[in-house]
Amino acid sequence: MKARISPLRRRIDAAGVRVPGDKSISHRALMLAALAKGESRIGGLAPGNDVRSTARCLSKLGVKLARGEGDPGMGPDDAIVVGQGRRGLREPNGPLDCGNSGTSLRLLTGICAGAGLEATLMGDESLSRRPMERVAAPLREMGAVVETASNGRPPVTVRRGHPLHPARIETKVASAQVKSAVLLAGMFIDGETIFSEPARSRDHTERMLRTLGADLRVQGSTVTLRGPAELPGFALEVPGDLSSAAFLIAAALVAPEGGSLQIEHVGVNPTRTGFLDALALFGARLKLELGGQSKAAEPTARLTASGQKLKGAHLDGELILRSIDEVPILAVLGALAEGETVIRGAAELRIKESDRLAQMAAGLRAMGAKVEELPDGLRIEGAGSLPGGVQIDSAMDHRIALAFSVAALAAEKPTTIAGAEWADVSFPGFFALLQRLGAEVEILA
Ligand code: S3P
Repeated sequence: MKARISPLRRRIDAAGVRVPGDKSISHRALMLAALAKGESRIGGLAPGNDVRSTARCLSKLGVKLARGEGDPGMGPDDAIVVGQGRRGLREPNGPLDCGNSGTSLRLLTGICAGAGLEATLMGDESLSRRPMERVAAPLREMGAVVETASNGRPPVTVRRGHPLHPARIETKVASAQVKSAVLLAGMFIDGETIFSEPARSRDHTERMLRTLGADLRVQGSTVTLRGPAELPGFALEVPGDLSSAAFLIAAALVAPEGGSLQIEHVGVNPTRTGFLDALALFGARLKLELGGQSKAAEPTARLTASGQKLKGAHLDGELILRSIDEVPILAVLGALAEGETVIRGAAELRIKESDRLAQMAAGLRAMGAKVEELPDGLRIEGAGSLPGGVQIDSAMDHRIALAFSVAALAAEKPTTIAGAEWADVSFPGFFALLQRLGAEVEILA
């Protein structure tokens, strides 16, 4: 599918806008509900394909799971999960297909290793290129037998019958997926699992486990879980995904000056808000009104953005870790700002759903920006505008599709996104929402 997006000539004015539920929290909520004993009710799950992959794999592991589609008592993004406890999972009778979702594959590997289940986990063409040794190696240190394909890529096979033991795991790269895989495996162990990473990655797993009564301590970037962790069924409302809201906020910022786009109930966990800090460095003014703590022990806020001029910014270090999925849209803002934007410390982007540094550099250049690709980032000479008028390929990567859609709104000539359907991985309904906000989007077969 192609989306032809015309320049947005008017400001964005809308209130009460909602974005899809947080993808990271949704994966974890489903997995912890599957390991809990009893019924869990989860509201506002991320509707995209990634979380559907997790749900499908959990069903294959014998978990009873019903989504609210078609059920009059439930919203389409609500789910009821009947967990049978950690020991209630069964071996799947075929490979676990994780689709495009690295989070599904890596976290479920941790669960299968902890449960001692024989399972093979695989994914689509993009996921099949991503490194899995980062999760296989620590699980082996814990006693699991985990095989990856010869180049360390999927498929990943976990062998049955190798009980895990307490371990101290130290990683070189900060990764919430690796941390979560280790903690999920640690839930099955009688004793302590200690996990240290060089900097603190997103902490949704820790927050949820603690809220559900697990014996878990956090000190700096070290997490200690004392297992076994027996969880009760729970009720949880997933906050909106800041990583999805970021595209709408960026659209409002680069629209003609003024207007006001108000997005409700967005998760603002401090391990995720690097994007908001980066906006401040671009000189953007944004209104953030804190709401309550959601039942997932996650802070939420109403965010309001309006069209304004941006200046170039230098983005680096822990800010990048806290905005890792927002780097593509930050690069778009850099191209539309006045002055130089430099992004460093983002080498992890090369092994996401695509090589996002290469895709952003090539796409922004095609749209008319001056961009230098660095080993771990980008240097962008912002000219305050983008010519556009070209076709950009999404490279099977939702955030590339979404980022260039926003760039297209701010370009001088209409721009076509090829492979626009990949936006559905995290943001189904994105193009319809853009139309509601006043954009001209033509969907071509
Ligand atoms: C995620 C962690 C991050 C992030 C990904 C989702 C998660 O990846 O980029 O989109 O839900 O744990 P890493 O853990 O590989 O850094």
